[in-house]
Amino acid sequence: ALEGILRGRRVVITAGPTREPLDPVRYLSNHSSGKMGYALAEAARDAGARVVLVSGPVSLAPPAGVEVRPVVTAEDMLGATLAAVDEGCDLFVATAAVADYRPQNRAGDKIKKSSETLTVSLVRNPDILATVAARPGAPFTVGFAAETRDVARYATDKMARKNLRMIVANDVSVPGLGFNSDRNAVTVFWPGGQAQIGPDSKQAIATRLVALISEQMDKSA
Ligand code: C5P
Repeated sequence: ALEGILRGRRVVITAGPTREPLDPVRYLSNHSSGKMGYALAEAARDAGARVVLVSGPVSLAPPAGVEVRPVVTAEDMLGATLAAVDEGCDLFVATAAVADYRPQNRAGDKIKKSSETLTVSLVRNPDILATVAARPGAPFTVGFAAETRDVARYATDKMARKNLRMIVANDVSVPGLGFNSDRNAVTVFWPGGQAQIGPDSKQAIATRLVALISEQMDKSA
């Protein structure tokens, strides 16, 4: 079904978590598995696109025929993403679960236990998705939104605020779906429309998403 629908297109996808170091042996992170982003990279490849996958640390095999660029922190991910976008990019999809904050200071040596409490100051990380979408000549940009309530309202607000062409919302309050799972169910929003996909495997969701994205890209061309 994907036969050639993204032929000749250049696609950049972020996936997985980021890790924000506290000291040489510790970091802040989250439970993102990277499965949705990797499935999307494979679907875009199958649709004929040239795919760069900017990936945080995950335990997934690099997909054949996809250029994987491994990163660790959100700042690394921003740098690698902007570099990939600058090489030429028609479509950018942000599936990564980027840490919103990082420790303000990275200790050069392992932090020792001494006092009963320890305070860590955090600073905001850059928003990779919003940064790409705000650039002149930005690619067709698609974001994800993991919400636990008022999914439609938060997702459509986010689409407007971050200047996105589409947003894929998953309700992460549903057990067995989404985060760290093999299955997902999403609602996709674009200006003037929406579609429900799943519950289904992340592979099947990715295939449907690529078809929908390609359709909207063609309409806006
Ligand atoms: O605002 P929120 O984090 O809920 O937005 C989620 C979307 O933004 C996802 O597509 C995620 O990949 C992207 N994002 C990003 N950089 C951040 C935070 C989120 O690219 N620092």
